[in-house]
Amino acid sequence: MTDKTSNQMWGGRFAAGPDAIMEAINASIGFDQRMAAQDIAGSRAHAAMLAATGVITDNDAEAIREGLLTVLSEIDSGNFTFSTALEDIHMNVEARLKEIIGEPAGRLHTGRSRNDQVATDFKLWVRDQLDAAASGLEVLIKALLDQAAAGADWVMPGFTHLQTAQPVTWGHHMMAYVEMFGRDLSRVHDARARMNESPLGAAALAGTSFPIDRDMTAKALGFDRPAANSLDAVSDRDFALEFLSVASICAMHLSRFAEELVIWSSAQFRFVTLSDRFSTGSSIMPQKKNPDAAELIRAKVGRIFGANTALMMVMKGLPLAYSKDMQEDKEQVFDAADNWMLALAAMSGMVKDMTANRDSLAAAAGSGFSTATDLADWMVRVLKVPFRDAHHVTGALVAMAEARGCDLPDLSLADMKSVHEGISDDIFTVLGVENSVNSRLSYGGTAPEQVRAQVARWKKTLG
Ligand code: ARG
Repeated sequence: MTDKTSNQMWGGRFAAGPDAIMEAINASIGFDQRMAAQDIAGSRAHAAMLAATGVITDNDAEAIREGLLTVLSEIDSGNFTFSTALEDIHMNVEARLKEIIGEPAGRLHTGRSRNDQVATDFKLWVRDQLDAAASGLEVLIKALLDQAAAGADWVMPGFTHLQTAQPVTWGHHMMAYVEMFGRDLSRVHDARARMNESPLGAAALAGTSFPIDRDMTAKALGFDRPAANSLDAVSDRDFALEFLSVASICAMHLSRFAEELVIWSSAQFRFVTLSDRFSTGSSIMPQKKNPDAAELIRAKVGRIFGANTALMMVMKGLPLAYSKDMQEDKEQVFDAADNWMLALAAMSGMVKDMTANRDSLAAAAGSGFSTATDLADWMVRVLKVPFRDAHHVTGALVAMAEARGCDLPDLSLADMKSVHEGISDDIFTVLGVENSVNSRLSYGGTAPEQVRAQVARWKKTLG
């Protein structure tokens, strides 16, 4: 007989229980209790399959099913005492099941191991989060589509190097983010489809000699099929890494947009006004309204990409099959998921509530000689001047306007002619910012017509 202090689940060969430090480094119950619902769903599917294949009796399976439901309700209602000595969620649930139903509980672990169990639970958890991310992204995309539709023809400066480049439309700028978050959404769908294979029944690493039906448990848990190699099934954490990389790329997109909102809401830009609901005040400067949500969203990519890096380093160089290193996967993914969902929700809230300041956008759109390219293009089109020469002439006109402290449309025809004789009155039709954006009708260009077509396409895609 073993020492009473050895682990009741695996202590058969042990004469003594673990050192307190051993218990502290070994236990995952502090965090993996978040997978309780998935653990119980996996156990229910496994028990039903064991009965269907004749490995355990229907009576035992029924007792296990009832008992697991009781355990779940205890956990849901906060009436469950988690034990560090029982290490993880798998053994906590099984031990409590034994207290409730007695002997049949001991048959639940037939033909499986904690290695396939944890891979299954974690996959189910990550899959739920991918579904939540998909919903969060759809809400955000819809909020951006509303902004784009409302301001499809509002002019604003377009930037390269954060220097005024050419006028664009507000709608076009919003739609750029729709494309980014749309790609994130498709990455979420791809990751979900690729991960949806069941590890359950791979057992410890080699499969099992019991006549289990892995198709049955896979189907019961909503997987497309059982994973085809037991060694891989228990040691694969690609699904978690893919979740973290999709989250990282999306968080990077969120941070770029957040940065624009921080700049745009400043007194120097005044492109947007963020709602009070998504701003904070300063405890010392009464005039301040700070874009804290945008700043925090901008920062989230740090911890989310950090989680991606951390898990990649945990997995690097691990020999097949399961190693305890893999227990380090969950906290990274939990933290990244929580923060990704929060950032998506906060960004959606900000976008829904924010007001674009049409007048400030328009005033800035015309500054910085933003229609210089239109002037050069006009010379190419009408005067058949080579683009390089037109570029040079336009540069001279920009220098002239700059010296006089005015904008290009403020120069007189005589001024223009002094630089290039061929320029005619017609030039003034292309110099306004409205004319500029309306002319950019190439597919994917900033013209309001193009923007409206893209909004319609996305609305149809999202349904
Ligand atoms: N708590 C473990 C984990 O999160 C469960 C699997 C443990 N397996 C084992 N053979 N010790 O990875």
